[in-house]
Amino acid sequence: MYHWFKIYDSLEALKNNITLGKTVVFNFKGEKICIAHTADGIFAVQDKCPHNGASLGSGFCTEENEIVCPIHRYKFNLKSGKATAGSGYALNTFPIEEKSNGVFVGIKAKWWEL
Ligand code: FES
Repeated sequence: MYHWFKIYDSLEALKNNITLGKTVVFNFKGEKICIAHTADGIFAVQDKCPHNGASLGSGFCTEENEIVCPIHRYKFNLKSGKATAGSGYALNTFPIEEKSNGVFVGIKAKWWEL
């Protein structure tokens, strides 16, 4: 079960606010989520780098659909969340859905919220 958080009123509004290759960080119930817009689509991953905690939202996206950490430049595939350069790190990924009333990101409910 997911909690769905509205991030923009429409896909067009999202693309106007997060231009191609850019990211924006949202904070939902204490969970920081990095939304990235690439040529392959819109993706949501945890903002905190699993290596040493940097904000991935301060990094940048590549043409290979990766997000690059601003500190040590580890790269993560935005679709799978997996590191693409040797390490075993992986990011949590979150679903994004366009609905008639906006664009939403889904965060899995904690077991105690079920
Ligand atoms: S903190 Fe992100 S790669 Fe080191």
